[in-house]
Amino acid sequence: MRDTGKSTKREFGETTSEPSILTIEQWAKKIEHALEHPSAVGPIRNIRDDDDREFDAIFVGGGAAGRFGSAYLRAMGGRQLVVDRWPFLGGSCPHNACVPHHLFSECAAELMLARTFSGSLWFPDMNKRIVSIKEVVDLFRRGRTGPHAVMNYQSKEQLDIEFVLNTPARIIDANTVEAGGEIFRARTLVLALGAEPLRLDTPGSDLDGVHDYTTIVESLDREPGETVVVVGGGKTAVEYGCFFNATGRRVVMLVRHRLLDLIKDGDTRAYAIDRMREQGMEIIEGATVSAIIGDASRRVTKVIADTPSGQLQIDTDFVFQSLGERPRSRAAVEALGVAIDRKGAVVVDDHLRTSVPNVYAVGDLIGAPMEMFKARKSGTCAARVIMGEEVSYRPADWPDFLHTHYEVSWLGLGEEEARARYRNVVVLKMPPDNPNGLDIGLPASDRTMLYAMARPHMSGFQKLVLDGDARRVVGAHHVGYGAKDAFQYLNVMVRRGLTIDELGDMDELFLNPTHFIQLSRLRAGQRELRSL
Ligand SMILES: Cc1cc2nc3c(=O)[nH]c(=O)nc-3n(C[C@H](O)[C@H](O)[C@H](O)COP(=O)(O)OP(=O)(O)OC[C@H]3O[C@@H](n4cnc5c(N)ncnc54)[C@H](O)[C@@H]3O)c2cc1C
Ligand SMILES: NC(=O)c1ccc[n+]([C@@H]2O[C@H](COP(=O)([O-])OP(=O)(O)OC[C@H]3O[C@@H](n4cnc5c(N)ncnc54)[C@H](OP(=O)(O)O)[C@@H]3O)[C@@H](O)[C@H]2O)c1
Repeated sequence: MRDTGKSTKREFGETTSEPSILTIEQWAKKIEHALEHPSAVGPIRNIRDDDDREFDAIFVGGGAAGRFGSAYLRAMGGRQLVVDRWPFLGGSCPHNACVPHHLFSECAAELMLARTFSGSLWFPDMNKRIVSIKEVVDLFRRGRTGPHAVMNYQSKEQLDIEFVLNTPARIIDANTVEAGGEIFRARTLVLALGAEPLRLDTPGSDLDGVHDYTTIVESLDREPGETVVVVGGGKTAVEYGCFFNATGRRVVMLVRHRLLDLIKDGDTRAYAIDRMREQGMEIIEGATVSAIIGDASRRVTKVIADTPSGQLQIDTDFVFQSLGERPRSRAAVEALGVAIDRKGAVVVDDHLRTSVPNVYAVGDLIGAPMEMFKARKSGTCAARVIMGEEVSYRPADWPDFLHTHYEVSWLGLGEEEARARYRNVVVLKMPPDNPNGLDIGLPASDRTMLYAMARPHMSGFQKLVLDGDARRVVGAHHVGYGAKDAFQYLNVMVRRGLTIDELGDMDELFLNPTHFIQLSRLRAGQRELRSL
């Protein structure tokens, strides 16, 4: 075992007789090969021999949190090392989480459009057409190495990140890590090990045909049949469930408590769920899986569930479980004794410091919200603290989103929460309340125009919530397409006290996915604001 506490004499590629700079295409081939034969490729190292400084930090895990933290620390002039068991930097998001989820959600939106207009205009007849799930999964698997390759190229050639990939890290103490048979020492450790899916522990949950978001992309080897059972009621369950539904499957969602409880605005949640049901999704709340039954070859054949209306038996060969995530904290607890909470998340203070001196933790490992913005921001914040900056980070008031067949975005308070907090709540929404039902072709904008003309009630929903006395926006909610991007910036403005008058004075790019500017302009003239 080599001790590389200060520097190493080997350059990139020396052990593999490759050039010291790989093109993006060469990276793609190397990553593909390493994913298929990890031990044949061995550790992939990029360690400078022209820098003999001690590492300021070793990032244990090179996902979003570890990579962004590494890049930031390096940009500040520090020296870092990042270690990942996978042959690429970037972690689970491009490999099995956000990126496949967005592909599947795009397919769900496209297929809903195609099915809605099946046989009319230029749309082919989709009647009874079952679309292959496996083909889309295979498409993703083939396509994902491109982004992986770009991240390795960018990390090495443009960001000067030092790394050891394709080998697990073993934490030895608060300053020492072993990877690929070498010992590395640093002033600090940053734990960035991510999280892993929780799994059912009911009888039969290990049968062939029971999947989660990781196994569906790694090991789906046959086409799911006509019925899919989805267990869970959060973002992943809904995003994958809507995709399965859009492919033409019967989808039964078994939800332990309440579906999409995370959408706090009642109208928005109801609109999203109504459209899911309208697409034929069967949603059973208050349901628990009591057993999964298989045949002689251990393939799933049936799910048995207890529901408020009695026991249900569903014939299926495909179960998708999405029960949330457990932080991957065990190794750090065993090696270092870091404190964790009851969900297994590493406990950190506002400077990302754990209970052990010189050890920091970032990303999904520190618990909710398990989202990319938090992974990246916590990684960079830890880097800044390590480099001596007086900064702190505690996620608060972030904008949020998920996909059904639509994109659902929100920020701030739901209407009900706002009414509990403010005396005079004013709501601007589209479509407006309509006692005769949702038959108005508004809101209409990019990617909802066909619905607006032919199936008006499918053209989306949006709502702005205001504190009428202060004239300030306190919440915004949107179901449709293309608004997610605006919510990133709108959230900053709302936190800074955005008023209806300022919003109504902005320049819209009409037809705009969010109708908030023009709705505000229609009402801003009122001294005593009224809802619209
Ligand atoms: C289905 C799904 C869809 C999602 N979609 C979105 C989305 O659309 N938008 C969004 O913002 N968020 C989304 N998320 C959340 C997002 O993926 C995570 O918040 C983010 O990837 C967390 O980054 P991280 O760096 O903390 O963890 P990870 O990216 O998981 O990184 C952890 C790294 O540690 C490495 N590792 C583990 N053990 C070892 C070891 N022993 N030695 C060395 N390395 C090790 C792993 O290989 C991995 O690269 C989604 C999550 C899921 C499950
Ligand atoms: N930004 C995005 O679009 C996106 C997409 C996907 C995932 N993510 C992130 O990734 C993480 C994981 O997502 P997720 O949707 O899997 O997790 P989640 O939001 O934690 O939801 C988990 C769901 O599973 C249910 N559940 C938990 N244990 C169960 C059990 N034993 N039996 C039955 N149901 C059970 C929960 O029900 P209860 O309500 O009863 O607890 C809940 O409905 C989240 O942090 C999420 O924010 C983000």
